[in-house]
Parts: sequence; structure tokens; C-alpha cells
Amino acid sequence: MKILVTRAWPKEAEDRLVAENLGEVTLRDPDTSMSHDEWMKAAQAYDVIMPTVSDKIPAEFYPAARGKLKVFANYGVGFNHIDIDAARANDIAVTNTPDVLTDCTADLAMGLMLAAARRIGEGERETRAGQWAGWRPTHMIGKKVSGATLGIIGFGRIGQAMARRAHNGFGMKVVFQDAWDVPDDIKAANGNAEQLASVTDVAAACDFLSLHCPGGTDTYKMINAEVFAAMKPGAILVNSARGDVVDEDALFAALDSGHLAAAGLDVYHNEPALDRRFMSYENLVLAPHLGSATDGTRAAMGHRAIDNLIAFLKGDKPRDLVS
Ligand code: DGY
Repeated sequence: MKILVTRAWPKEAEDRLVAENLGEVTLRDPDTSMSHDEWMKAAQAYDVIMPTVSDKIPAEFYPAARGKLKVFANYGVGFNHIDIDAARANDIAVTNTPDVLTDCTADLAMGLMLAAARRIGEGERETRAGQWAGWRPTHMIGKKVSGATLGIIGFGRIGQAMARRAHNGFGMKVVFQDAWDVPDDIKAANGNAEQLASVTDVAAACDFLSLHCPGGTDTYKMINAEVFAAMKPGAILVNSARGDVVDEDALFAALDSGHLAAAGLDVYHNEPALDRRFMSYENLVLAPHLGSATDGTRAAMGHRAIDNLIAFLKGDKPRDLVS
């Protein structure tokens, strides 16, 4: 059994993977995205690949891996970097790592919302540059978060955790959109949230719009010019989901017109090569995909991926089987 881990993991998780003696483990070094060539060479070299969100898997890889690769035991909850249909067509199973990163990702989304609303990044840049002229009543006025309305797109685990934080901690009213009809007890337990019919309905009702839906074809550029136009003037966007959920041209247009007051972003199209336009807006808070980036959580993601792999290799159904 040959197992490839595509990026460096927390040591604790790497050590356990080796100690489990599941096969010959390759902990790939350097810690960079694999090239097209490396992917194609890996296709018939490994029985198990443990990839993650920053992996760009070529379309030709899937048929090339047929008959050899058994499973992508993904490190991460999101799996939009894996073509699930192509994996299925080539008998490659896929698992992911939900639950363990829910709190940290919701914590970071709260941080982005607060930083964007209260201009914390901008204020820090001013302070560090030695340009702060001192306290004054009109200095760096932001938007009040407490008591405002939060709109959530995607009411899964992370969306619900965000709703609880916003409602219980900040007295926010919560509205949300999701394709599934959420039962009343779940709404009550998660910020007493109200489900609205569409993304634009949520956009129109809220002061802060936070994205918690999966990436992929169904949500590609879902937050577009129409959704920005539906938002209240002066509203703020938070994205800790996936970059491709937002139409970035429409985002810049909404910022340019002043209709969108600010945004707090953790994810982007084409990470890490961001559109240079991002750098020119003081009212953008830009984090480098840090949602799950705490010591305990990143180790827990590794353990969860290993648990899934062990179950798969035993012939059991892994707890987090995606496909
Ligand atoms: C995920 O798990 O999908 C995140 O984006 C990385 O933590």
C-alpha cells in the first residue's frame, strides 16, 4: 500500500500516519502544490492520496489513476478541488474532515466581520505607519455589529456555528438561505434564525452577509452583481467559504460604487495569486485562508483523515465518505 500526503501536516498527525503502519507513507517535501507532471506520475504510483484544498488535480489524472488509486482521503472539509464525478467514474473513493474545524472557521468569520465593520486592519496600518493623529470624534468611524442583522448563505455546521456566535454573543438577528428546508428546532437552537427563500432575499434583509456554502459548480460566482445590488447600501460581505462563490469583478464594482461598505475575506479565486486589485482597497480585510488554522484543529483534521483511511482500508464505511 503506497500512501502520498501532498502537503506538510502538523507533525503529530504525520507521526501517527507513519506509526499506524498502513503502508509505505510518502510525506511529500517540498510543501508546495504538486505540478501537473507530478500528478501524472503519481497516478499509477499510489494506492492512497491524501490531498488538500490547495491541490490542483488535472482532469487527465483521474482516468490515468484508474485501477491503482483507491481513495482520496482528503485533509479538509471542502472537496471542490476534487472532481467527484471523475473520481466516481474511475472507482476512486473520497472522504473529507468535517466537524473538527467548525468552531475555528466560524471564529475566523466572526473576526473578519468585526475587523471589516470596525476597520481594525485599516486602523492597524495607520498606527504602524506612525500616521495616527490621536483620538477624535470623527476618526475611523465603522459600523455597529451588535444588534445588527446577519445574513448567512449555507446553514450547515459552520453557518449554524456562526449564527450562534452572532446571536448569543452579539445580539444579532439571523436570517439565512439554504437549499434544505431547515427544521424549526435547528433554527431555534442556532441563533433563532429565520430561513428566507433566496440568496437575494437574505442579501436584502441583512447588514452583514456571511458565506458558508460549499464551493463548486452549484455556487460558482453566486454572489454576483444582482446579489450586491440587492444588499442594503453600506452592507458588509464576509467570505470564509470558497473564493469562487463570489464574482470578484462584481465585488470590486460594488466597492467602487460605495454600495458595499467593506468586506472581510479569507478565500479568493486563484489562491494564492490574488487579483492585484484587492491590494488597493483599504476597506478590505484580507486573510490568507486561515479558517481552520489553529494548532488543535489542524492536527484534528489530520487525525480525522487518518481515521477515515483506516476504516476504508479495513473495508468499513468511513465516517466521512463523500463518494
Ligand atoms: C477546508 O477544510 O475545506 C478549508 O478550506 C481548509 O481548512
